[in-house]
Amino acid sequence: MTQHLAAAPAAPTTGTHTGWWRDAVIYQVYPRSFADGNGDGMGDLEGIRSRLPYLRDLGVDAVWLSPFYASPQADAGYDVADYRAIDPMFGTLLDADALIREAHALDLRVIVDLVPNHSSDRHEWFQRALKEGPGSPLRERYHFRPGKGESGELPPNDWESIFGGPAWTRTADGEWYLHLFAPEQPDFNWEHPAVRDEFRSILRFWLDMGVDGFRVDVAHGLVKAEGLPDIGSHDQLKLLGNDVMPFFDQDGVHEIYRSWNQVLTEYSPSLRPGVPPRDRILVAEAWTPTVERTANYVRPDEMHQAFNFQYLGTHWDAAELRTVIDASLAAMRPVGAPTTWVLSNHDVTRHATRFANPPGLGTQLRTPGDRALGLRRARAASLLMLALPGSAYVYQGEELGLPDVTDLPDEVRQDPSFFRATGQDGYRDGCRVPIPWTETGPSYGFGAGGSWLPQPTTWGPLSVESQTGDPHSTLELYRSALTIRRTHPDLGAGESLTWLPSPDGVLAFTRHPGFTCTANTTGAPVSLPAPGRLLLASTEVTVAGGMVTLPADTTAWWAV
Ligand code: NOJ
Repeated sequence: MTQHLAAAPAAPTTGTHTGWWRDAVIYQVYPRSFADGNGDGMGDLEGIRSRLPYLRDLGVDAVWLSPFYASPQADAGYDVADYRAIDPMFGTLLDADALIREAHALDLRVIVDLVPNHSSDRHEWFQRALKEGPGSPLRERYHFRPGKGESGELPPNDWESIFGGPAWTRTADGEWYLHLFAPEQPDFNWEHPAVRDEFRSILRFWLDMGVDGFRVDVAHGLVKAEGLPDIGSHDQLKLLGNDVMPFFDQDGVHEIYRSWNQVLTEYSPSLRPGVPPRDRILVAEAWTPTVERTANYVRPDEMHQAFNFQYLGTHWDAAELRTVIDASLAAMRPVGAPTTWVLSNHDVTRHATRFANPPGLGTQLRTPGDRALGLRRARAASLLMLALPGSAYVYQGEELGLPDVTDLPDEVRQDPSFFRATGQDGYRDGCRVPIPWTETGPSYGFGAGGSWLPQPTTWGPLSVESQTGDPHSTLELYRSALTIRRTHPDLGAGESLTWLPSPDGVLAFTRHPGFTCTANTTGAPVSLPAPGRLLLASTEVTVAGGMVTLPADTTAWWAV
């Protein structure tokens, strides 16, 4: 493949900073479950290509594709056997090339997933390391160690896998290897120069293919504390996200991202006048204890965006939301990076189901809750998110108001953490069910055949076909919101907002002088002075005599 000469869409200018990603709405495609081009029940690149016009019409700026690389699929593709090949179940490199070109022709940027913390156990390096045995130089590219105990029968330290169980597996020759996730996902040793060189080369491979950026998986995990020290706790999953662990958020990771930033700069479109040098982006999936530590990943010479998981974990509550919004904006300001906002992804229960349940249950639920309440809040939450300054991530199907599928039978589940009982709950399959495109037909138009996870029989009315043209549908709400976001001069651009006085449980803020957003997070209607001309609302609002009544769980946008 040669470097794309077909230019990606030109970069807009926003506030004092420039760059297309600063206010971009980025749509996450989960390739297994988006669209199935060949009717085998599994989504693929051909399917995605056929639905690119839908994404353009929805009004998003970019698409992030979860992994489509050659993989035994022990963790739905987050176990990569060959970083430069497409898994046959998704297509070929030619399909990827066509997808990138077609997306660019439609003004959509393409971000691919990069999985640098671990490979698949089927990766050529790991296979050779296993075969060559203790002392092989290939073992130094991973974390192989002798065990503890009289005959090495105990793991080298007390680390636990994020998916549950020990983070070490013993090989037939008696050595142990480290895997922070499933045993099929051995961790790379990032102290080894060959690992560093290999990933810079992989970046170049995909940049040559024309991609506009990388979402970096487990960006906080690459470097481990020297000596791999014990943690000394038997409840390590509780510490995750709150404490600095010896395998997460180590300061050494930042040097890696500085070197990747330099690779991206080599690809900067400096030949195109007026386009800033950082046209391609790195997005950190970095779970850190605080937003301040997350900001370290997006310092000017490192990455460009980091997911805001603190926002994702916030309940539908005005005071909590305001606190996290303020903290997020304040944390990013000193480093000059845009804030990001996200409500759903392929690892957590969809927000329509989270908000249908009582708060405090976490992000992996098995109960449908009050569906109508969940949908009402989800629509309000989405409109609030899309009004905030910075970049927003939309997970496929949230624009349809899809709930999580909470009653999947155990025998169809594929999430590896489900099978490791002591680990994370393992209910991620519920948000990964293929999405409905048509009201009827096999797999609701997902493909010509079935779907790899069963879809609920009630999903016809939630399909793209059923919702299109219905002014009350969630899909049309998203379409309108994204159109306004693109065309209104005061939305999108900028890095701050101004809070307005508002009743308890209500958020009200302006973005520059011309735009105001009001969100009632309470379960009762609230009346307040109408801030201007109504642009859009998540449920019907009444404006009369200069006052507006915001129904329960409702967000409204106003032109001022
Ligand atoms: C984060 C990904 O989003 C998740 O799906 C995956 O299981 C882990 N990283 C391990 O790669």
